[in-house]
Amino acid sequence: MKVAIIGQGYVGLTISAYAGEHYEVCGFDNNLSVVHQLNKGISHIEGVKSSDLQNCINAGRYRATNTGSDIADVDIVVIAVPTPLSKDRKPDLTFIDAACKTIGDNIKKSVLVINESTSFPGTLRNYIKPRIEKYSGLVVEHLYAISPERVDPGREDYNQKNTPRLYAGLTPEASKRTREFYSKFCDNLIEVSSPEVAEAAKLFENTFRQVNIALVNEFAQIAHSLGINVYETLDAANTKPYGFMKFTPSAGVGGHCIPVDPTYLAAVAEENGAPATFIRRANEVNLEMSEYIVDRIQADNGGSLQGKSVLIVGVAYKPNVADVRETAAELVIKHLRDRGAVVSWHDEVVSTWHGVSSAPLSGADIAVVITKHDVVSEQDILASAPYVFDTSGKVAGAKGL
Ligand SMILES: NC(=O)c1ccc[n+]([C@@H]2O[C@H](COP(=O)([O-])OP(=O)(O)OC[C@H]3O[C@@H](n4cnc5c(N)ncnc54)[C@H](O)[C@@H]3O)[C@@H](O)[C@H]2O)c1
Repeated sequence: MKVAIIGQGYVGLTISAYAGEHYEVCGFDNNLSVVHQLNKGISHIEGVKSSDLQNCINAGRYRATNTGSDIADVDIVVIAVPTPLSKDRKPDLTFIDAACKTIGDNIKKSVLVINESTSFPGTLRNYIKPRIEKYSGLVVEHLYAISPERVDPGREDYNQKNTPRLYAGLTPEASKRTREFYSKFCDNLIEVSSPEVAEAAKLFENTFRQVNIALVNEFAQIAHSLGINVYETLDAANTKPYGFMKFTPSAGVGGHCIPVDPTYLAAVAEENGAPATFIRRANEVNLEMSEYIVDRIQADNGGSLQGKSVLIVGVAYKPNVADVRETAAELVIKHLRDRGAVVSWHDEVVSTWHGVSSAPLSGADIAVVITKHDVVSEQDILASAPYVFDTSGKVAGAKGL
């Protein structure tokens, strides 16, 4: 059984590593330097060990490519390309379209096409299938299925094997073949009644997180205005054994999923005349956190940040990963600079960002912790500046939310 996985990023390479233990995998990516690196057995993704990749290569079960004709003879194609927002914050399916073109142009026999990229309900049926048919000139009839990805990069307790996976095919045969494919490396496969249910479930999972993060971010502001400690209050609420789930405040949400996926849900809701007010507002509350934090820091520092040196500690969007996509650090830095601060950043895991290298963890007037990686000690952070504001809730003794 040969499998092509289109997109060799967080999702695609992770699936490649698991699938590569059972199938012959062709990792297709249009980034040539990623392809070269992968073929040398070097993983660029947390959670995928280079040694595992190398083992698959040595066994002849993994090869990366950016040549379309290399996927011509596969039996299954998995789509794992980005689904970002456009400049006007609308769903942007151009990467999916390009993946459909690669499939349509190169695969002339019937295969199973599984989409793992996150998108709104109807994407598989009304977008992917018609586009592949258009690009292939309707030479063949493929099977189509969806199985939304739930990988959480950097997480060790849940992986592809023990994370339950939803799936649904456009036909019973597509569902059956999808189950057979994943059952080799996933223990808990849950079939739902339609691809649209699987697509919507994925969006709702991340919208649930976005809304709860916004709620706790708003609550952090309320708690501060009341002069009570937000973390102690949350711990107190969390003693209730049912009906409560603890989320913690932050400088905002980051990564490819939480700031993006709810907007896909809101867009499709509004297109269909349904309200998405709650989702839209949650997004705004999370985006506004950066300005609230800078207001607090300014108030604590004599009402002006003009000329102050500010060190941002941790620019990754979450601890222990190098991923800076949609990081809340970006907006915090913007507001600090707008107010005249001289900003640099330190991150032990992210070595370069926007072409700039990580600065030393010392010598600033003000340090602002956005993300605390485990390798950075609280003591070193506290010693880096006379005033430290912590948005992560992990640096005891600092000012914070
Ligand atoms: N990162 C996560 O934790 C996560 C979790 C669940 C779902 N998802 C979803 O999975 C999808 C992929 O996300 P990701 O985090 O793996 O993205 P990524 O940016 O890490 O990787 C995408 C890869 O696809 C490649 N690519 C782009 N267009 C291509 C094309 N036309 N042909 C071949 N390769 C192409 C890029 O070069 C890149 O290597 C998105 O829809 C995302 O929302 C991501």
